[in-house]
Amino acid sequence: MLKDKVAIITGASRGIGRAIALKFASEGCNIAFTDLVEDENMNSLVTEITALGLKAKGYASNAADFEQTQKTVEQIVADFGHIDVLVNNAGITKDTLLMRMTEQQWDAVIAVNLKSVFNFTKAVQTTMLKQRSGSIINMSSVVGVSGNAGQANYSASKAGIIGFTKSVAKELGSRGIRSNAIAPGFIITEMTGQLSEEVRNEWNKMIPLRRGGTPEDVANACLFLASDLSSYVSGQVLHVCGGLNT
Ligand code: NAI
Repeated sequence: MLKDKVAIITGASRGIGRAIALKFASEGCNIAFTDLVEDENMNSLVTEITALGLKAKGYASNAADFEQTQKTVEQIVADFGHIDVLVNNAGITKDTLLMRMTEQQWDAVIAVNLKSVFNFTKAVQTTMLKQRSGSIINMSSVVGVSGNAGQANYSASKAGIIGFTKSVAKELGSRGIRSNAIAPGFIITEMTGQLSEEVRNEWNKMIPLRRGGTPEDVANACLFLASDLSSYVSGQVLHVCGGLNT
């Protein structure tokens, strides 16, 4: 479904981003991905994808940094030639009640989760405009739609992503560029692994499908939005949450 395409995925050394990279690669896509540092996770993902006969490269790059992002995308274009799909996946949490939330906790989450989406979308824009095609997929969250106590910074960043996604869809649609968001619910990764057993059980009770999602569940939705199966879908938020947000 993505044969000979090139995708950039941010924060893909582990978790949901890694599952997206592997899913896209299984459909013939060449993968340029970023994460904060070059480590064993980054190198093993490159090895796994290149073993499929595809091109893959990991770039150590802080998605919250505007200049670094420009340079990284320039390097990716030089290495891969074109960019068909951008998945803005990198994200962090710094959860606490508003009463205790520091300015640093607010700024860090907004910078990594929201500013990064601006940084990468702006950096790929020229290439996608020249191609007159591209699919941009932004990782929001159900809490960006519904809010969540203890996550004012995170929810605000994820709600901001939705506004950005819709604006880009309207601005770049006439040039063949699509922009959509995914709103995952409770997905089992290291990010949610930090939560206690009790909190995780409480989540499961609230989910109509009675289980947490897997990174692959999210990757499958990404594949739909990346591929031509969704060629008439833009400006939308696709919830992947087991029915939690309905
Ligand atoms: P994770 O913590 O397992 O992986 C996130 C990856 O992003 C890590 O490899 C990390 O090093 C990287 N990263 C962090 N800051 C970065 C930066 N400044 N620049 C580049 N890379 C950076 O998280 P997970 O669960 O895989 O989450 C992926 C995305 O999905 C995030 O945007 C998250 O907010 C979103 N999401 C996750 C949900 C879940 O339940 N796990 C639910 C809803 C949304």
